[in-house]
Amino acid sequence: MGQMTANRWQGKRRQYMFALSSTNRQHEWETLVADAADSFSSPFPHFHCRKNAGQKGKPFELAVDAGCGTGRSTRTLAPYFQKVIGIDVSESQLSVARKCTSNENISYQISPAEELPLEDASVDLINAGLAAHWFNPEKFGQEAARVLKHGGCLALHSFSLVFEIEYKDKSEELTAAFSEAWKILFEFNKKVDGEMKAMYQELFSAIPFKDKQRINGIREVFFLTVSEIMSFLQAICSYKKFLEQDKDKATAFLQGLEKRFLDILGEPASDVRLGFHVYYFCLLASKP
Ligand SMILES: C[S@@+](CC[C@H](N)C(=O)[O-])C[C@H]1O[C@@H](n2cnc3c(N)ncnc32)[C@H](O)[C@@H]1O
Repeated sequence: MGQMTANRWQGKRRQYMFALSSTNRQHEWETLVADAADSFSSPFPHFHCRKNAGQKGKPFELAVDAGCGTGRSTRTLAPYFQKVIGIDVSESQLSVARKCTSNENISYQISPAEELPLEDASVDLINAGLAAHWFNPEKFGQEAARVLKHGGCLALHSFSLVFEIEYKDKSEELTAAFSEAWKILFEFNKKVDGEMKAMYQELFSAIPFKDKQRINGIREVFFLTVSEIMSFLQAICSYKKFLEQDKDKATAFLQGLEKRFLDILGEPASDVRLGFHVYYFCLLASKP
């Protein structure tokens, strides 16, 4: 593991992940950047938080959000860079991103992550959230090496598909019920899961910098009602495959799980919010 990367990101990783994976955690991203500017040579040596720009230096110049989709994490990066470019291969995703974005320093371009429409050594940060497993690892690694500045960083994150549910003294039972259901659902998507794991291993190997590391177990907590947890399950690919195969069974499966949750809670629970813990992993690397 690259010691330099470890030092640069020490203690900042959670906030970084929270910030990039969620739209309502702006303050944590601000803390990260402020801390980075204040307390160490910063993950990007020439990068400083915009709010400190007058005293401490210039803000980062350019971030690229590769596989930006609807621009969720692209917008989170906006306050800290002079310019942020979201790129994606899907015009329909980009058109939603454009509609949802009012920041003047963000632009979107259609392009594969493996052929970025950018000059050599021009980028401070390449971020990819829940997207890099679609990229060609070798080509993307080479492209990152081409466009990143010296000291520029690559940050790729994704779900690790581990979940926990927290509520008073019911956490263990609720987590067990959810895990059982998740296991059943994952039978419908085993191949994709296996391929995704392998892709991130390949991506890690293909990053052509010595200074790189994988960070596991980065947690984010959402406070969801039982019906919101059911909606989450309904939206995932595995459940959609289950529905395609057997609509009645799939519907009964979710109803059964919802009832089990409510039985465990044992109280009128439609408004109760449970802590839904999601775990991420992240690949971080820095160009020498
Ligand atoms: C699950 S979405 C993630 C979107 C967004 N980053 C987020 O966190 O919400 C994955 C995105 O990667 C895009 N994508 C897939 N392959 C790509 C490639 N080779 N180059 C650029 N984008 C790609 C898809 O079009 C899709 O919008």
